[in-house]
Parts: sequence; structure tokens; C-alpha cells
Amino acid sequence: MALKQELMTIVSQKNIAPSIYELVLTGELVNEMHTPGQFLHIRVPREDLLLRRPISLAEINHDAGTCTIIYRVEGDGTACFSQMASGEQLDVMGPLGNGFDLDAVSAGDTVFIIGGGIGVPPLYELGRQLKEKQAQLVFMLGFASKEVSFYEDKFKELGNVFISTDDGSYGTHGHVGVLMAQAAVDYQEPTAVYACGATGLLRAVEARYLEHPHAYLSLEARMACGMGACYACICQSATDETKNKKVCDEGPVFKTGEVII
Ligand SMILES: Cc1cc2nc3c(=O)[nH]c(=O)nc-3n(C[C@H](O)[C@H](O)[C@H](O)COP(=O)(O)OP(=O)(O)OC[C@H]3O[C@@H](n4cnc5c(N)ncnc54)[C@H](O)[C@@H]3O)c2cc1C
Ligand code: FES
Repeated sequence: MALKQELMTIVSQKNIAPSIYELVLTGELVNEMHTPGQFLHIRVPREDLLLRRPISLAEINHDAGTCTIIYRVEGDGTACFSQMASGEQLDVMGPLGNGFDLDAVSAGDTVFIIGGGIGVPPLYELGRQLKEKQAQLVFMLGFASKEVSFYEDKFKELGNVFISTDDGSYGTHGHVGVLMAQAAVDYQEPTAVYACGATGLLRAVEARYLEHPHAYLSLEARMACGMGACYACICQSATDETKNKKVCDEGPVFKTGEVII
């Protein structure tokens, strides 16, 4: 695989919720970006932070020649990104990983898209591409509170949106599992199910859709190389306990039942 790496230029950066930033980048690499669920491996412009930070593609816009990432400030690396301004450059590798498989979905199909917190961003580009296929989209999005929720209006342009908050400050009180139980009653069996979020959310989706032929989970793992060489990001195969899978290049998206989460 040819190394896809570039100094991309920051078009804009906006604080969209407490500690959450939307960053728009431009560069030749945008031409390589097609699949939702893939991620960028971004070098922190600080000499002492050697490992790149993996951040999912939230939007790919070929007309504008831009891509968007949405990230939450967790530690030194993301704090450093949040201080950067338009015109500055970031060393980006990508797009990397095995993204969401959209093949099973056709016009008119019902699709469930389930996300939590900072797992929500990659679901936006996924929704945009599924809407282009004219699927009927049902989003179930969980956040800690109303304050840290984002992109509701943008998701509403793509389909039906149901929101839950852990503290009950907005939408349904509780976690996304409550929304999933309701959607199973209100909607027909979905053609495909896609999820990204914390481990608890992924386990809930897996429990409900383990046997579903087109249910996909996007996982997180601590990464180093980001391209399959160092084995820092392995998880265990669920079907063969002697086998490991690398989240960075065999994932981050896996089918339900494929790996142990
Ligand atoms: C495939 C993938 C996609 C991701 N997409 C997003 C996204 O769209 N938005 C977003 O806000 N976050 C996303 N993350 C999590 C993001 O990578 C971490 O929050 C970020 O690396 C933290 O870096 P830091 O320097 O601020 O924190 P620190 O805690 O200082 O990081 C120290 C080290 O741990 C690694 N690390 C820390 N937390 C994580 C984590 N949760 N997952 C993987 N590595 C971690 C860092 O990369 C770094 O190498 C994604 C992670 C993966 C694996
Ligand atoms: S991070 Fe190196 S193999 Fe996945």
C-alpha cells in the first residue's frame, strides 16, 4: 500500500460544544477519501508527542475539496489540535482502516444508525452516503447531556433522529438501549445496522443484532503505527480464540460477532 500522507491545511476550526471541536481540512488526500468509518492518523505538532492520533472522518466533501473531523479534547494531543487556526497545517496519514460496508442497502430500505458521544461523528458521513442511496434512516444518538450534544439539526436533514441523554437534560432519559428497544417496536426490521460509541453501547447493539447479516460496529483501540505493522491495536477474534484482529487495518469496523468487544 502506498503511504498516503500529506500536510493538510486547516480551513476552519469551530468549538461546537464544550471541549468538542469541528475541524475542516483541505488537501490532495481528500481525493482518496470515499468510505465512511475510515480514519485519519494525525501527527501532533509537538516534538514530544510521537504517536499520531486516530480521528474518524465526519464528512467528506469532494466538491469543496475538504474533509471534516469532530473531536473531543481528551489529553495533550487533542488539546494541541484545538489551539490551531485556519491556514495552519497538520501532518495527516490516511484515509486508513476498513470503513462501513454500504453494499447491502438499497433505495427505500430501513437502516438503523446508533451512536454515542464522540462515536457519533463518523455516522454523519455514513448518513450522507446512505441518504444518497435513498435509504430511510433512523438515527439513535446518545449523549451525556444536552450541553455536549451536537449535529442534531444536521442529522435531521438526513432522517429521523432520536436522542437520549444520560442525565435526562434532553430527549429520552437514559442510554441508547432504550431508543433501540423502542425502534424495534416502531420500525420494520432494518436492512442494516451501524454503530459507533463506547464499549457498553457496542455490546448492547451486538446483543440485539448478533445474528443480523448486516450489523456493523466501529471499535476504538490504542494505536501506534495505524497501518497494521506494530500490533498495538489488536483485539481477539470471536470465532477463533487463537486469532487476533488489528483494529487499525482489519477494523475499525467489524461485523457483529466477528471480534470480542
Ligand atoms: C479508529 C478511531 C477513531 C477515532 N475517532 C475519533 C473521533 O472522531 N473523535 C474523537 O474525539 N476521538 C476519536 N478517537 C479517539 C481519539 O483517538 C483519542 O481521543 C485521542 O487519540 C486522544 O489523544 P490525546 O493526546 O488527546 O489524549 P492522551 O490520552 O494524552 O493520548 C495518549 C495516547 O493514547 C492514545 N489514545 C487515547 N485515547 C484513545 C482512544 N480513545 N482511542 C485510541 N487511542 C487513544 C492517543 O492516540 C495517544 O497515543 C478515535 C479513536 C480511534 C481508534
Ligand atoms: S496500530 Fe499498529 S498494527 Fe494497528
